Amino acid sequence: MAEEKALLSVLGGEARSVPPLWLMRQAGRYLPEYRDLRATTTSFLDFCYSPKKAAEATLQPIRRFHFDAAILFSDILVVPDAMGQRVSFESGAGPRLEPIETPEQAERLGDFKIEHLAPVFETIELVKTALPCDVAFIGFCGAPFTVASYMIAGQGTPDQAPARLFGYRYPDAFAQLIDRVVEASIDYLARQIEAGVEVVQIFDSWAGVLPAEKFRRWSAAPVRRIVEGVKARHPRTPVIAFVRGADAHLPMLTQTIGAEAYGIDTALDPAWAVAQTAADVVLQGNLDPLALVAGGDALDREVDYILAAFKGRPHIFNLGHGILQQTPIENVERLVARVRRTGA
Ligand code: CP3
Repeated sequence: MAEEKALLSVLGGEARSVPPLWLMRQAGRYLPEYRDLRATTTSFLDFCYSPKKAAEATLQPIRRFHFDAAILFSDILVVPDAMGQRVSFESGAGPRLEPIETPEQAERLGDFKIEHLAPVFETIELVKTALPCDVAFIGFCGAPFTVASYMIAGQGTPDQAPARLFGYRYPDAFAQLIDRVVEASIDYLARQIEAGVEVVQIFDSWAGVLPAEKFRRWSAAPVRRIVEGVKARHPRTPVIAFVRGADAHLPMLTQTIGAEAYGIDTALDPAWAVAQTAADVVLQGNLDPLALVAGGDALDREVDYILAAFKGRPHIFNLGHGILQQTPIENVERLVARVRRTGA
């Protein structure tokens, strides 16, 4: 039977003349309907843990743009939250956690209590019943290095210095923390799949700062273990690995991680990525989110370059990182029309 979901057929290795399209962080503040819905709950995590609202936020970009995939509305930091390291979001200032500064503090973290995330699985069940039949459903988690960087610093940092320092000073405690996040992420993704997502994406947003040997140890190896752990339980569910800043490591990642597709960020030339990876490797990306803010001819040129570079290859059209809050809706409409060649 032919696969009616374009995303799933490309993840199975098919090259399509019109690639499936979705955008990282496609639900969010650039949408007026999201801002209205978000205003009904003060705390961001309470919002994520409200199944009806989170399901609605997941569906909003699908209604407006009919993307080829919906991504679960949640956050990567629900994993530390479920380990008892409570997370809050200060408006405009990003996430806040109690920092982990010593191995003793890391030891004191609780077990991962998956039942704390029951509202997320309920959200998945709600979305599943409401999705159009040609739209695939993506679940996700953060990669261990990225999640650990927030757990250690207690907030976002420009260079992940606290996590890197912790890793150099306390290699055993750091390795244990990474292991705990690996195990939690496998359970979490497996449960998302059991609740109804059809694909999972692992976001490693911050590994690009690491020296090569640390990149292999703290980013590539733990991501690979998550892929293996998920495949042991759900061998047929495709995995997308998005390692931002993978840069020259990309070919190595595609040979070792075992995912069905690899996201590439804005900095990578798609022509280079195509040339450096085997012809059957599925790639996802990589429009500059700022080109989407700019719109007009500049946007068209970037889109056309990417489409031409990936021609003949299994490709999933996406941004090279999350959509920006100031993105005009009409530019997203223009992008969709350009990729699908439905424009004037
Ligand atoms: O459409 C989607 O992709 C929905 C789900 C989603 C969110 N966060 C919702 C969110 C996903 C996949 C994420 C991933 C995420 N969260 C990452 C990895 C991807 C990336 O962008 O690098 C990271 C590093 C986080 C951690 C995080 N969450 C930060 C740093 C922030 C604050 C910065 C910001 O954009 O405000 C968040 C909050 C957050 N997560 C918002 C949304 C829509 C904004 C909060 C709000 O609406 O009040």
